[in-house]
Amino acid sequence: MTRKSDPIKKLTPEEKENVTKTLRVCVTGAAGQIGYAFLPLISNGSVFGPHVKIQLRLLDIPAAVKALEGLSMELHDGAYPLLEDVAFGSDPEEMFKDCDVVVFIGGFPRKQGMERKELLSINGNIFKTQGKALDKVAKKTVKCLVVANPANTNCLILQQNAPSIPKENFTCLTRLDHNRAVSQLWKKTNMPLYSIKNVIIWGNHSSTQYPDVNHGTIAEKPIKKVVEDEEWLKGAFITKIQKRGAEIIEYRGSSSVFSAANAIKDHLRDWYHGTEPGTWVSMGVVSDGSYGVPKGLVFSFPCICKKHFEYEIVQGLHIDPFSQEKINITTKELEEERDEAFAEEKKPQEAAAGEQKE
Ligand code: NAI
Repeated sequence: MTRKSDPIKKLTPEEKENVTKTLRVCVTGAAGQIGYAFLPLISNGSVFGPHVKIQLRLLDIPAAVKALEGLSMELHDGAYPLLEDVAFGSDPEEMFKDCDVVVFIGGFPRKQGMERKELLSINGNIFKTQGKALDKVAKKTVKCLVVANPANTNCLILQQNAPSIPKENFTCLTRLDHNRAVSQLWKKTNMPLYSIKNVIIWGNHSSTQYPDVNHGTIAEKPIKKVVEDEEWLKGAFITKIQKRGAEIIEYRGSSSVFSAANAIKDHLRDWYHGTEPGTWVSMGVVSDGSYGVPKGLVFSFPCICKKHFEYEIVQGLHIDPFSQEKINITTKELEEERDEAFAEEKKPQEAAAGEQKE
C-alpha cells in the first residue's frame, strides 16, 4: 500500500527536516507478541516523532506469513497518516533491503528443559543468517536493535556476520531493565517518575545484570540520600530487577510484552532524537574497552545519545569495589556466552554473550 501524508503547517526547522524524512524499518518476529504491541507505536509516531514517515517491513517465518498478512490489514485499517508503505514476507534479504532501521524481535523461544547451549545454537544460526542478509542488502548506515534473547549474544553474532556495517550501529535492548529500575525507585520513594535520573544497567540482559544507582539522582539529589536504605539498594532492589522477567513469567504465564514494546520505543526514540541534556540511558552496545570491559563484547553501558542515532558511552564514572565485583560477574557470563556461541568457529578477536532472562 502507498499513502500520502497529510500536509503539516507551522513547523520548527527540526520538524521541517523530519517532514521530508522517511525511514524504512523492518521488524523481525513481527507476528509474535511483542511485534503486535510494538507495531502501533512505530506507526503512530511514538518512536520517531509525529513527522517522520515510515515504510514498514514485517519479517517472520514462512508459517507466520498469513498472520503477517492479517497484521498488514490491521495496519491499513489503523489509517496511520505516517505509514507510507507496508510489505511482509519470510525472506530476510527481501525484507532488509534498503532498511534504515531493523528491530530484531524474532527468535526461537526457550522451551522447558532446553539447555542454554541449545537455545544459543538455534538463535545463533538465525542471527548468523540474518547478519549475512543485512550485510548484503541493508543500507550501510542501517541501525539495529536486538530484542530476542539472549539479546547481547544475538547482537554480537549479528554484528560479526555483517562486517561492512559499522559496529556502533548494533545495539541490544536493556532499556526494559532500566525502566524497571526507575519504576522500583519510584515505588520506594513515591517521588515523581520523571525526577529519577541516571540509573545504569551494566552488562548482560540476564540475571547477572547490575542495576547501579550510585550515579543517579532523584529530584537532583543522590539516589542513595533520598532512599536512605543502603541494605535495600544493595540487596532486594538489585535482585528485583535481575529477576523481574522471571517474576512476570510466573504471574502472567508468558514473558513481558507491552512493557518490552514500550522499552523498544524508548530505546529507539532516544537513540534517534537524543537523550535529555544531563541524562543518560542504558543501552547494550559494542564495548570499546570502557570501564575495563573487553573490547567487542555487547555490553549494557550508560549512554548519552545525540541526534540521529549517534551515541557515546558515558566516561569517567567512579566504580567502587562493590560495583566492580558485580560488573565482573556479568562480564564473565558474557565472555562465556561468546565462547559458547563461537565455539565451532574461529573465535572472533573482539566479541561476547548472555544468559536468557525472559
Ligand atoms: P513470540 O514467540 O510471541 O514471537 C516471536 C516471533 O519470532 C514469532 O512470531 C516467531 O515465528 C518469530 N520467529 C522465529 N524465528 C524467526 C526467524 N528466523 N525470523 C523471523 N522471525 C522468527 O515472542 P515475543 O514474546 O514476541 O518475544 C520475542 C523475543 O523477545 C523473545 O526472544 C524474548 O525472550 C525476547 N524478550 C526480550 C526482552 C528484552 O528486554 N531484551 C524482553 C522481553 C522479551
